[in-house]
Amino acid sequence: MPGLRQEILVMKSIKEKLNSKKIPRHVAIIMDGNGRWAAKHGSERSFGHEHGVDAVRSTVEGASEIGIQYLTLYAFSTENWERPKNEVDALMGLLVQAIENETDELMKNNVRLDAIGDLKKLPSDVSKKLQECIHALSSNTGLTLVLALSYSSKWEIAEAARKIADDVKNNKINPANIDDKLFGKYLSTAHLPDPELLIRTSGEFRISNFLLWQIAYAELYFTAKLWPDFRKEDLFKAVYDFQNRERRFGKISEQLLS
Ligand code: IPE
Ligand code: IPE
Ligand code: MG
Repeated sequence: MPGLRQEILVMKSIKEKLNSKKIPRHVAIIMDGNGRWAAKHGSERSFGHEHGVDAVRSTVEGASEIGIQYLTLYAFSTENWERPKNEVDALMGLLVQAIENETDELMKNNVRLDAIGDLKKLPSDVSKKLQECIHALSSNTGLTLVLALSYSSKWEIAEAARKIADDVKNNKINPANIDDKLFGKYLSTAHLPDPELLIRTSGEFRISNFLLWQIAYAELYFTAKLWPDFRKEDLFKAVYDFQNRERRFGKISEQLLS
């Protein structure tokens, strides 16, 4: 199959072409398209979610290989609770299974685990497994894998506003001191740098309530690939694309040279 061989060579060279000094510290991914992938294979939606785990494994491995420090994966949104019960149940079951099966591999790759979102909404077995895994991997020093679970950005921003209001009421902060830096400290991502690169799979061009505050200056990368087909080479391609963009942060090109 010369086509496939050629494709592998091109992919390899993309990794080699990456500038190791310009690797984004934090990459966030909206993992979309599992249901359509399953339909394409004549199967139930949960079959797509199962195969989504292969994509996660390869992406985590790739992120570690090129020295990304934080990888945030949108795994389940606040709005996803509204899906049919059997799908929600299947996703929660899969989550427990995936955490259980992947912990050893994550340990081998020196990956830490973290989670953001309204975690108290998760079924107790999911929550328990998640906390166990976070604990087991807590001394690792490589990539931090952040799972966004029962997460939505509007929920997170409203929570932050509520906590700030509490702190104002209790005289812990002065309203005059509220600026974007202080606000950021009340978000669930306070301990993370903002993502520089946001990837969405499945050909949809929307953000679906993900990290709205944090992606203010992220580079957006959309690919038609359905999530279960996504592999580390696709991550390298996105990072390569990122490295060839000019990030101006409101300035003009000439100012960036000085
Ligand atoms: C993404 O795939 C996974 C979750 C949202 C949990 P989808 O399940 O949204 O798949 P599509 O978009 O329907 O194909
Ligand atoms: C976004 O995908 C949420 C996750 C990937 C977890 P959705 O499939 O829920 O988003 P919409 O409904 O297409 O916007
Ligand atoms: Mg979807």
